[in-house]
Amino acid sequence: MAKRQAKAPVEGRIPLMAGNWKMNLNHQEAVVLVQKLAWTLSDKRHDRTRAEVAVFPPYVDIRSVQTLIDGDDLPIAFGAQNVSVHESGAYTGEVSASMLAKLGCSYVIVGHSERREHYGETDEWVALKAQVAHRHGIIPIVCVGEGLAVRREGTHVAFTTDQVKRSLEGLTAEQVAQSVIAYEPVWAIGTGETATPLDAEEVCAGIRNQIDRTYGGAAAESIRILYGGSVKAGNVAALMQQPDVDGALVGGASLDVEEFSAICRYYEMPVM
Ligand code: PGA
Repeated sequence: MAKRQAKAPVEGRIPLMAGNWKMNLNHQEAVVLVQKLAWTLSDKRHDRTRAEVAVFPPYVDIRSVQTLIDGDDLPIAFGAQNVSVHESGAYTGEVSASMLAKLGCSYVIVGHSERREHYGETDEWVALKAQVAHRHGIIPIVCVGEGLAVRREGTHVAFTTDQVKRSLEGLTAEQVAQSVIAYEPVWAIGTGETATPLDAEEVCAGIRNQIDRTYGGAAAESIRILYGGSVKAGNVAALMQQPDVDGALVGGASLDVEEFSAICRYYEMPVM
C-alpha cells in the first residue's frame, strides 16, 4: 500500500497527545519517564506545531513532574486524572481544582470510563467537574464513549452525543470552545481493539455537529476532540488522518517512551 503522510493539522487546532498513566508509576519512576520523553522528543526534533504533548500522572507524582518540567523548561504539559467537584473542606481523600491549578496543571481528565464504571460517576457529576476545572483555569478533557452493547445496537452516535450534551451542562460557549472531548469507546480501552479510523471519525464528527448545534460554529471549530482506546504508533497516523480527530488519549502505550513519542510524531508515521 502506498505510504501517505498524515494530514496537516486544522488551522487553529493544535492536536493534543495525552498520556493517561492511570494508577501506574511512583514519583521517582514518573521523573525518569518524563526526562526520557523530553529527551526522545527533542532528539527526534518533534514539531510542536503538529502536536502538543501532555502527561497525566497519579496525584502523588504531580509535584515531582511539575518541578522537573518547570525547572528544565520542558515542552510537555501535565494534568491530573480526576478532580473533586467541591472547592475545599471536609471531603476526605479528595483533591481540589485550586490545588491542581496551584501545581500548574493545564488539564484534568474528567469522566473517564473507568471512573464512570468503578466509581459511579454520572454525566451530571462529570459536568460539575468540568465546571470546577474551568473556574480554576484548567482545561477539562471530558471523556465519553459507548459500551459494546450500544455499539452492537448501532446507536453509538446518539448515545455518545447525549453524553456530551449532559457532561458539558453549565459551561458557556467560550468554555466549551476551550475544552477537550475524548471519545473512547469502552470496548476499545485496554483491549487491543481499536475502532477503525472511520468508526472514530463517525462519532467525532457527530460530537462536533452536536457542539455546533448547541454552542455555535466558533465553539465547534475550536474544541479539540481526541480519540482514545488502544492507540499505538502503528495505528495513530490513520486515526489522525480523519478531519474530526484532533489527537489521542493514550493509556497503556503512554507508559512506553519510545511508543508514546512515536505517537506524538504521528505526522512522520506511515498511514497503514
Ligand atoms: P488504552 O487506554 O490506550 O490503554 O486503551 C486509553 C484510556 O483509557 O484513556
